[in-house]
Amino acid sequence: MATKTIAVSELDSVSPDVSLAGRDLCSVADLTTKELAGMLALAHDVKTNPGAYRWALDAKQMVMFFEKASLRTRLTFQTAMNTLGGSALFVDQTSSPLGERESLADIARNVERWVQVIVLRTYAHDTITEMAQYASVPVINALSDLEHPCQAIADFMTLEERFGNLKGFNFTYVGDGNNVCHSLMLTAAQLGANCTVGTPKNYAPKADIVAQARAIANVTGSNITLVNDPVGAVTGADAIYTDVCTSMGYEHEATKRAPIFKPYQVNETLMAQASPSAVFMHCLPAHRNAEVTDAVLDGPQSVVFDQAENRMHAQKALLLMLLGKGGNRSETGKCL
Ligand code: CP
Ligand code: NVA
Repeated sequence: MATKTIAVSELDSVSPDVSLAGRDLCSVADLTTKELAGMLALAHDVKTNPGAYRWALDAKQMVMFFEKASLRTRLTFQTAMNTLGGSALFVDQTSSPLGERESLADIARNVERWVQVIVLRTYAHDTITEMAQYASVPVINALSDLEHPCQAIADFMTLEERFGNLKGFNFTYVGDGNNVCHSLMLTAAQLGANCTVGTPKNYAPKADIVAQARAIANVTGSNITLVNDPVGAVTGADAIYTDVCTSMGYEHEATKRAPIFKPYQVNETLMAQASPSAVFMHCLPAHRNAEVTDAVLDGPQSVVFDQAENRMHAQKALLLMLLGKGGNRSETGKCL
């Protein structure tokens, strides 16, 4: 039997302020700036020293209920949990939304008796916040129509690897003001990076997320800027990020959206407007030669597969922070 090189109780010696024991991650805004910085520091350490965390979540159980398709999120959560010594259970909810067969509250009251963490990929964001309200174990948002926090945390880990401290960094997102865009804006604001979002009219990010990001940015000293001109958005950028024009759940709008988003395609001409050292980012899956050309996606500035790899390391850090104290119930019901 392999030797455990780190005990759960020793995690505090790796990074003193990393515990999120018993909390939920529904939104990036659930984290303080300090907690997010601690998570990223832990993610870098986990990536560098995976063996040190090999049994940190020994015997912990994680269940994943997914209403939407997934490659990266599903496999990176499973590999993360398995390589920390725990187990991952997957429940395919693509043909029946959560709450249809029995109430979310009843699902929570069952599942919390067996597992230490619940991971949800849903259409309605309320499904995630309601499950978080009912469950006495942590709930993680693995993508909803509103946010994709695990993606954004891994993406900014990728940027830190390349550029170091991101205060004053010029991050640009072009395309649909969607779930990924929302979480990226909040993460950029938390880290003091400037965030410019270029979208067609009527596809801007939601006003309440913009207000939330701007409130955080006011404290961290960054700017959140919304524009409609794609060239103006990317000029001088240190990173250009895009996502699909039509997210899961909006497929019926695909034909209408395609021409509207055409000027926002990230191609070599648009990329040339950015800083010469700029990177290209995409959460994947990409629709090749729709929102991004092959030349950019496969080109030397693309870091998309680093982003995909870092999903696993960042989620390990998240799981360690949520469960690293041992998973015992507190008097308030949440894991400690
Ligand atoms: N980026 C991402 O979340 O990919 P999946 O939809 O494949 O999980
Ligand atoms: N915005 C996309 C992201 C997929 C990872 C979607 O929600 O379909």
